[in-house]
Amino acid sequence: MEKIEFFKHNLTEADLDLANQVMRSIFLTTGPMVAQFEKKFAQYLGSPEAVGLTSCTGAMHLALLKQGIGPGDEVITTPMTFVATATAILETGATPVLVDVCPKSGLLLPEAVDAAVSSKTRGILPVHLYGRMADMRGLARVAAKHGLVIVEDAAHCLEGSRDQVRPGELSAAACFSFYPTKSMTCGEGGALVCRFPEEAAWYRAARHHGISKNASSRYTKKYEHWDMEMMGWKYNMDDIQAALLLNQIDRLDGYRQRRQDLENLYRELLAEVEGLDLLEAPGPGEVSGHHLFTVLLPNKVDRDEVIKLVQEMGVGCAVNYRAIHVLRYFRETYGYRPGDFPVAYEIGQRTISLPLYPQLREEEVARVCETLKQAVSSRL
Ligand SMILES: Cc1ncc(COP(=O)(O)O)c(C=O)c1O
Repeated sequence: MEKIEFFKHNLTEADLDLANQVMRSIFLTTGPMVAQFEKKFAQYLGSPEAVGLTSCTGAMHLALLKQGIGPGDEVITTPMTFVATATAILETGATPVLVDVCPKSGLLLPEAVDAAVSSKTRGILPVHLYGRMADMRGLARVAAKHGLVIVEDAAHCLEGSRDQVRPGELSAAACFSFYPTKSMTCGEGGALVCRFPEEAAWYRAARHHGISKNASSRYTKKYEHWDMEMMGWKYNMDDIQAALLLNQIDRLDGYRQRRQDLENLYRELLAEVEGLDLLEAPGPGEVSGHHLFTVLLPNKVDRDEVIKLVQEMGVGCAVNYRAIHVLRYFRETYGYRPGDFPVAYEIGQRTISLPLYPQLREEEVARVCETLKQAVSSRL
């Protein structure tokens, strides 16, 4: 039987053709295609400004730096995420302070963040886990109360909204990933949206060594000296990446709807499985990005054995995530123990992510569910 992949990207011939056009031109790095992408991406998100970068990690790093976060500062974030959320904080010299998540959603809760604020706290870095947005209105109230900045890890949620708020609307910046498993991709890539043109100009300098002219203006005009005006990094998106992304933006909402329908089917087919738990579905009026669909296996079964079996039976799956506080670096650096963040730990021990992408067919969802049921019941 044909394998059901965990993920398939959605690059079309037209996307590849546009990237080909760029590659056949003389100019490959940050130039007109990036500018076009930024304009369209900002419009999609309803945000005044977008900046093309090389990763979401780089985007979060720059966004925190722009807010003046550095050594001696603390930034509150979640243990139920990919390590990049915390390493972006570490890259600034600040310390990530982990706060346990809501057992129903896996999201940071404003009241828990409020309780964790210390005299050193400068920022909050929420993650819109699996596509569901954190409560940005609640987090913005906590931030206002304590004078904190918010930077959003929106790697899982380009398309969502909650309480009529979209990523980037109530924060200093929202950061996105175009890694291959994300809802649009250019291999590796990222972007951020922010609200002010002066900030976008700072990001455009900071992504390119802090020098006064970017490569395209250096190439298309006659040579002129450039200056390094500020400290900068090397995070500039190039025109090949931008060409791959440009037209994927038009397909985001249709794909999001398809993933929502597939998730609903999963929920229906898995509703009665004994011991299996699902995180709560998005609430009314909420639009989730439906980036990942995860299940929590019965406590009695060994999750890793089930994963092995499911894969042997021809179904791709993954774990998003083992809580970051149990990973070696964080354990050894901060002395964390599993029970320090019990909810994130439990989710991290029980969770499996199942295939979820627009090309997945209904009969494949049914086969994934049958495979999972068989694997679980053989291990009960
Ligand atoms: C929640 C989350 N944050 C950050 C990242 C990092 O994104 P990138 O690989 O673009 O730096 C990822 C990527 O997998 C992610 O899932």
